Amino acid sequence: MYTSRIIGLGHYVPDNVVTNGDLSKLMDTNDEWIQERTGIKERRYAIKGSEDTTTGMGVKAAKVAIDSAGIDKDDIDFIVFATLSPDYYFPGPGVAVQKALDIKTVGALDVRNQCSGFIYAISVADQFIKTGMYKNVLVIGSELHSHGLDMTTRGRGVSVIFGDGAGAAVLTRSEDNNRGILSTHLHSQGEHAEELVLTAPGMGTRWVNDILKDHENGVEDTSYYPKMNGKFVFKNAVVRFSEVIMEGLTQNGLKKEDIDMLIPHQANLRISQFIQRKFGLSDDQVYNNIMRYGNTTAASIPIALTEAWLEGKVKEGDTVVLAAFGSGFTWGSVIIKW
Ligand code: UT7
Repeated sequence: MYTSRIIGLGHYVPDNVVTNGDLSKLMDTNDEWIQERTGIKERRYAIKGSEDTTTGMGVKAAKVAIDSAGIDKDDIDFIVFATLSPDYYFPGPGVAVQKALDIKTVGALDVRNQCSGFIYAISVADQFIKTGMYKNVLVIGSELHSHGLDMTTRGRGVSVIFGDGAGAAVLTRSEDNNRGILSTHLHSQGEHAEELVLTAPGMGTRWVNDILKDHENGVEDTSYYPKMNGKFVFKNAVVRFSEVIMEGLTQNGLKKEDIDMLIPHQANLRISQFIQRKFGLSDDQVYNNIMRYGNTTAASIPIALTEAWLEGKVKEGDTVVLAAFGSGFTWGSVIIKW
């Protein structure tokens, strides 16, 4: 059996910085509230009409990841793209990446697991590599939230949190079983699907024809905006994060003390700090960048992992843990010997 290793990483965020002060001009919010509750100081918003779509940003991150892996785009055997904000309702952005990078007609899979999307995508890539089916898999997480948020006081509990950006990784086959991705752990609890949800357009709940009819009749449609029961999500997040990190450590015969670097999904700095305390980790052992980017959902882990790696905080031989929790509910972890 083979093992998969991450050999290349890349990220991309739009240049346009939006501060908490900028948001306070659009809605009744303020820097103090946002920083105190979430840790966020600023986030990036793609400029409307620019090439920074979900696919566009994903492609930019992917190019860097492929270059840093030292392989050619034609060495890619499979593409996995995680996002909750695809350019089109269908097809998903995986095929758009294949086209944009002019990669031969390899398979492209779209993963719809929101904040856990990158963890799920890495797990999928890992399985394909372990079985020997593919050698090099490109995994992308990218989100364009800013064009779809309710930028009024009504939506402030959700909209101040999210930002745009992309990250990517190249996984390759290795025969060294002591290094690379040791295990992945995936979970879901669909009974809480409506606690963090975007219902429209949805063929099950919100038919396009209904939306058009409401529009014609001047009925305001808020079903296009994400809704979140923040406190409930928060309470579940801290429990599930802890559980799934522990599950990964236990499966590999590791202890809390063995963690060199934890890269949590950047949902809320308070969640990361809670996990840090629970696992007895120092500030150097948990990577956070939510202060600068907000929550970029499926992109948050690959952006953070890339930055940590570029800053020399993820080194050969380190035990690196990735973990996420979010809409679905879905959650998961990845245990890596770097
Ligand atoms: O990545 C996916 C997973 N997502 C998460 O893990 C997010 C988990 N949840 C959270 O991070 C937090 O619940 C939030 C940051 C979203 C909200 O923080 P909270 O401490 O749970 O606040 P809250 O929603 O209970 O709101 C408290 C008060 C309310 O006012 P009243 O009812 O007490 O008068 C809100 O209306 O704060 C008000 N509020 C705001 N005030 C200023 C809500 N949003 C804002 C805002 N600015 N942006």
